[in-house]
Amino acid sequence: MPAIKACLFDLDGVIVDTAKFHYIAWRRLANDLGFDLSIEENEKLKGISRMESLEIILAIGGVQLSEEGKLKRAAEKNVRYLELCQQMTPDDTLPGVRLFLDELKSASIRTGLGSASKNARIILERIDMLSYFETIVDGNRVTKGKPDPEVFLLGAADLEISPENCAVFEDAVAGVQSAKAAGMMAVGIGEKSVLTEADLVVPGFSNFHLADLLSWKSA
Ligand code: BG6
Ligand code: MG
Repeated sequence: MPAIKACLFDLDGVIVDTAKFHYIAWRRLANDLGFDLSIEENEKLKGISRMESLEIILAIGGVQLSEEGKLKRAAEKNVRYLELCQQMTPDDTLPGVRLFLDELKSASIRTGLGSASKNARIILERIDMLSYFETIVDGNRVTKGKPDPEVFLLGAADLEISPENCAVFEDAVAGVQSAKAAGMMAVGIGEKSVLTEADLVVPGFSNFHLADLLSWKSA
């Protein structure tokens, strides 16, 4: 098994629980357009870019909008989302995340963020975690969304680490697929029954340490 020399992290749902805010903001948009958005439907939006998410939601509601209308609705959703994010503090960082990143630093394992979000830097600043990542690949940089491997390949290239020496932490099906397409180890954060393509699935970082990752690789 190749050694792990870098860990690349998704943001939403891995570092911080912003999924609830995305859901509230998308649901309000759907309600404004005259239909509802269920939690199950929202699950399909995880890891998916803002404009692609909007397309999925419009298809769910059977609503058609002009290109201008789509941009306006997406911008409205983002304003609402960022308003909700204002209530976040460093305490909203998911349990165990900081400790895990500290362990990586002590072991000289490189760190990067690979997120579809265009708000990644704003969110990391809010939770005071910007300094934990040596590179940030976000929705402003990628041209192809997850499940395309671009986001994680760019992260590995920034860190000058070969993809086979990278592990990716992801809570979304599309994100796990992106990691696997990049030729990286994929650690799913969530449930095995959902993240079926991940190499390893853990519920979160609370009881997960670097030693667990390294011993899995050499198993
Ligand atoms: C992903 C989220 O990380 O970022 C998606 O899982 C979200 O739900 C996407 O749509 C884009 O985020 P943003 O912040 O650019 O609208
Ligand atoms: Mg995510």
